[in-house]
Amino acid sequence: MDESVNEHFTEWLESKKVRIDTFMDQFLLKKTPDGVLGDAIRYGVFGGGKRVRPLLSYATAEALDLDLSVIDFPAAALEFLHSYSLIHDDLPAMDNDDLRRGRPTVHKQFGEATAILAGDALLTLAFEVLSADGALSSRVPAWTNILARAGGANGMIYGQILDLIGEISELSVQELESIHKAKTGALISASVRLVTVLKPELNVSMLHEFASHLGLCFQIRDDLLDVQGETEIIGKPVGSDERNKKATFVTIMGERKAEQRLYRELEGALECLQKMDQDTMHLENIANYIVHRAH
Ligand code: IPE
Ligand code: IPE
Ligand code: MG
Ligand code: MG
Ligand code: MG
Repeated sequence: MDESVNEHFTEWLESKKVRIDTFMDQFLLKKTPDGVLGDAIRYGVFGGGKRVRPLLSYATAEALDLDLSVIDFPAAALEFLHSYSLIHDDLPAMDNDDLRRGRPTVHKQFGEATAILAGDALLTLAFEVLSADGALSSRVPAWTNILARAGGANGMIYGQILDLIGEISELSVQELESIHKAKTGALISASVRLVTVLKPELNVSMLHEFASHLGLCFQIRDDLLDVQGETEIIGKPVGSDERNKKATFVTIMGERKAEQRLYRELEGALECLQKMDQDTMHLENIANYIVHRAH
């Protein structure tokens, strides 16, 4: 990427982050009660998230020439569901982490019971925003199905249970790929599918394949950052995976091979975009951002 493209992308990124944050803020102001539950919910959503899933939805929408005001609803739903998954992922019974986005995790700040309930509330709020007044009502059943499958017992949750099982048994690379595909890939893919479903007349298989490569890229970089990152920059405890004896790309194949695999997946992702007629510049930029990110 040359400098000017970089600058243009940074501007695009910031404007879309403001867009989704404003939308989520307005929705949560109306929908969360005053008091500790509302405080914990807002704490879990705001304060430094990269907003990668909403950004992917917006970039997909721009490639397909769709109105972004339609995308705000599924984009917020994805981010609520993602935020809930992080709150629960950090709990003592799961990864037992104290730091997230450079601040105490929700259970450290508000207590475990409140963290569990804030997560539960965000999961339901995800479906509430997806079907809220103003959302494209004709698409709500399809959106609900996509989000439920991505977040549920065959999607993210399935990945999370495999991830826990991986702490106590030896896994092959193939098994590890299945974990990553589910625990992280499912929501990344849903970020694209919630948008492509609005264009049933188009052949969007290349976009779906792109998302599947990208999901793997995302988690391999996350695994690498867990060993190579600095706590002040990643905002999470370094070495969490090793402490929890997680099966990750780094623990199973080592840093060098994990990096090679990461760049192979990036190539696969970019090749999918090159096969498309649409302007996929922002999707390409997001892929590079995900792979090269420092946090
Ligand atoms: C972290 O997700 C959890 C994974 C799925 C790897 P993000 O890296 O998207 O976390 P935030 O939202 O930017 O903090
Ligand atoms: C979590 O993966 C994926 C989720 C579904 C939340 P990690 O456990 O590696 O995510 P971090 O490193 O805590 O953000
Ligand atoms: Mg985890
Ligand atoms: Mg974790
Ligand atoms: Mg991690």
